[in-house]
Amino acid sequence: MNEDATQAAGADDVLAGTGERPAFDVSVAHQARIYNYWLGGKDNYAADRKAADEAIAAYPGVVTGARANRQFLARAVGHLTAGAGIRQFLDLGTGIPAANNTHEVAQAAAPQSRVVYVDYDPVVLAHARALLASNKDGLIDYLDADLRETDTILEQASRTLDFSRPVAIMLIAILHAIPDEDDPHGIVAKLMDAVPSGSYLVLSHVASDIDPEQIAEATARLNQLSRQHFTLRDHAQVLRFFGGLELLEPGVARVEEWRAPELETRDRSAMWGGVGRKP
Ligand SMILES: C[S@@+](CC[C@H](N)C(=O)[O-])C[C@H]1O[C@@H](n2cnc3c(N)ncnc32)[C@H](O)[C@@H]1O
Repeated sequence: MNEDATQAAGADDVLAGTGERPAFDVSVAHQARIYNYWLGGKDNYAADRKAADEAIAAYPGVVTGARANRQFLARAVGHLTAGAGIRQFLDLGTGIPAANNTHEVAQAAAPQSRVVYVDYDPVVLAHARALLASNKDGLIDYLDADLRETDTILEQASRTLDFSRPVAIMLIAILHAIPDEDDPHGIVAKLMDAVPSGSYLVLSHVASDIDPEQIAEATARLNQLSRQHFTLRDHAQVLRFFGGLELLEPGVARVEEWRAPELETRDRSAMWGGVGRKP
């Protein structure tokens, strides 16, 4: 989509307030497009780049962190597909397509894998077709929905996923967009209640307790330039999302350390991530 066309489509949109769904507006930074910029993508606009660059100036680790997070996603999906036999994924907070989208990693190992993507940003919806290119044995759906509409999401996802069989609930770099007053722990509990024993939770979250001063400053800058606000959480708060689950080794760790191959250099992040199994 070119910038002029998008501007024409979105210029008159009313901005969504904090806590609401973002309107299609290229004059305000969107999380999905900021993240796309940090990952080296082209689907972003001047407002996104300004916010992204301001955050980089405060904490250059946001760029390596975005890459490390994306690699965590691929390793976790690869492990669940090849190692744990999971064939169904509910990927909430999909983002603009990038390398190693969930269905690509899952269907490379198990072609019959089913994936339901969910995002509330019209920017991501505009890219949904790229996500829907399933191979012939698998199945993919895309839901344009807000994570906080959890019941609706579960109902619509059941058109594609069989909730009597194990499902991987994926909340990768999304829960920082859910403030405490919207009860993120309750949302995760509701999702995990809807899936049977043998299901998994895959979760990553921006950390308040890794390089705390720099990440706090980067976040403050982003929160000023975007209507979507980040809430940072510490290791204990992220661990609490896994309540009642069996955490896989190495537990809640920096995403670049979660089952990473032994490399001399790694992209560093200020993000906690982990994978838990419902007993
Ligand atoms: C940083 S991106 C992460 C993309 C992908 N999960 C990854 O980790 O590579 C966060 C995504 O979550 C989406 N998001 C944030 N809050 C949301 C909400 N309440 N409901 C649905 N999607 C949301 C944003 O629109 C954005 O696309």
